[in-house]
Amino acid sequence: MRFSMTFPVLASALLSIATSKEVGYFDSSECVDRSAFESCYEKADQYLASCISNNCVGGSDSCSDACGGSVTCIQNKCPNLGVDCMKACDCAKTVEYIDCIATSCWNQAYSCEYQATINDLVGTCVNMDLDSIPFWPPPDDATTGCSCNMGKILYTQTIDTKNLDNCYDKVTELNRAGDYDRAEAYGRQCLCCGQSSAMSTYWDVCPKTDPSTLGADIAQVLLGHNDWDACGPRLSNSDCVADYGFSNVTNFYSPGKFPVNGTETLSNTGSPITAPISGPTFTWTFKGNLHPITAVPMSNKADATKAQSSGSTSTPTGESGAGLVRPALTLMFTAISGVFVFAAI
Ligand SMILES: *[C@@H]1O[C@H](CO)[C@@H](O)[C@H](O)[C@H]1NC(C)=O
Ligand SMILES: *[C@@H]1O[C@H](CO)[C@@H](O)[C@H](O)[C@H]1NC(C)=O
Repeated sequence: MRFSMTFPVLASALLSIATSKEVGYFDSSECVDRSAFESCYEKADQYLASCISNNCVGGSDSCSDACGGSVTCIQNKCPNLGVDCMKACDCAKTVEYIDCIATSCWNQAYSCEYQATINDLVGTCVNMDLDSIPFWPPPDDATTGCSCNMGKILYTQTIDTKNLDNCYDKVTELNRAGDYDRAEAYGRQCLCCGQSSAMSTYWDVCPKTDPSTLGADIAQVLLGHNDWDACGPRLSNSDCVADYGFSNVTNFYSPGKFPVNGTETLSNTGSPITAPISGPTFTWTFKGNLHPITAVPMSNKADATKAQSSGSTSTPTGESGAGLVRPALTLMFTAISGVFVFAAI
């Protein structure tokens, strides 16, 4: 049996921290077409509310209406609703958000805000193909965008999760063959590699950013439950890339051997994007469904001169930044516990 993809409520809870000025994670005044963007998000939010009341068992209109579309509220106040069902609706809503952004806020495609939105997507949509997500993760050589490539962190951690699944299969195989000692050793070493890679990515991808801004503190708490302290010798005895198939994108730091912490908070840097990255029209695919996009022209921007000259856009709060990396990591640790328990049988 493979691990089920269970994500915490956290991902969607973050959506509700928006202030009146913000639309989702965005300051809509920064978008190419503010009014188109706002009405597109509104439509997606309405879709979410009706998706939940039409599809999720036990839903009553009065219950979900009282929550104004907030998934967190609905989860708390409408306990009969299926969490998986709501996640599916939330996933579909975030897919609509991406269409909104690609259409009328494409100048923010590499922003911290967009990457935080993708965090929610990955946090609520099961079995998704990361490579289908437009503009994500931002390329290493992007001259504009978030000061930390959070997408690359999440991407790496998601690959780590898949790799842990492969280890799980291998452990299952060894156990089936009665090779219990090797199964346990293999499971423990692989676990250390996965934990180390998932942690190291904060420091390796964004060395200048304060890792606590990115959720590394929470990750450390999770590590505490997974025998991380025993990983020093195990990591020096393993070649995580060659023996366990982990990506070479990051180092595999041992407990207590991490580089010095960065100090920066998250911000958008560089000149704003002035032409749609994928051209005026393009199509992206989500689970086999085509999403044709027609980017609104730059001339729609009410304040076009500001768009050309203003170097920085709004900065998401530390909390929204932290939100980006938490869900995938939690998923990974769900998987890790599975490997661990299995290996210890
Ligand atoms: C470095 O960051 C980690 C993760 O946020 C934190 O736990 C640790 O205390 C920090 N170290 C120092 C010396 O501030
Ligand atoms: C990582 O792996 C890729 C492909 O497997 C390889 O091309 C690249 O040189 C490796 N990078 C490092 C730093 O080892």
